[in-house]
Amino acid sequence: MNQDELKRQAAEKALEFLPDSGILGIGTGSTVNYFIDLLAPIKGRYDGAVSSSEASSKRLQAIGMQVLDLNSAGELEVYVDGADESNHQLHLIKGGGGALTREKIIAAASKKFVCIADASKLVSVMGEFPLPVEVIPMARSYVARELVKLGGTPQWREDFITDNGNLILDVHHMEIMEPMKLEAEINNIVGVVTVGLFAQRPADVLILGNENGAKVIEP
Ligand code: 5RP
Repeated sequence: MNQDELKRQAAEKALEFLPDSGILGIGTGSTVNYFIDLLAPIKGRYDGAVSSSEASSKRLQAIGMQVLDLNSAGELEVYVDGADESNHQLHLIKGGGGALTREKIIAAASKKFVCIADASKLVSVMGEFPLPVEVIPMARSYVARELVKLGGTPQWREDFITDNGNLILDVHHMEIMEPMKLEAEINNIVGVVTVGLFAQRPADVLILGNENGAKVIEP
């Protein structure tokens, strides 16, 4: 199976974790795109979805699903989203697609976070994937200097503006031994909007597409 088939397999398994009705939380990325496609035949069960990006909103609307504002949706039963890396505690690195801030907000507002990925995303120590940090544009250089003090090598994701009008710094060479601590430290830098470390609010369920079938990890 290639990586896309493994992503689709994880997305298919996630259908088993959905409530029968209500409003769904939907993330961003190629794995989630498979999930949105799989929602098409069952969309009638749901009042709509809250989405973490303009791209996912468009895709949801294309299958005929109403996209709702989180402010009027209340607490969500389930949020389904992908990840760039996960450790065995289901702490995640997210934001490869630049949607980390809205993703973190929806994850926080959801009872259950179901993360879907291919098996290559599971690692012992996170940090090989560059850690995305969304920053206010005028703070870019200042935040980059502070990230260097924390041991990283930040690289500006040029020609990319987030859905919130901000910039992304991708931080290379971080060996993330204490994800909760690092998340708090980076969040504390003035000018940081969000760091793409999801440790304080990890996933509740990780579904990994695997050669031997989808594997479900619940710590
Ligand atoms: C977007 C994300 C994605 O969930 C993450 O990048 C994984 O993407 P993909 O499913 O394409 O591998 O965090 O901001």
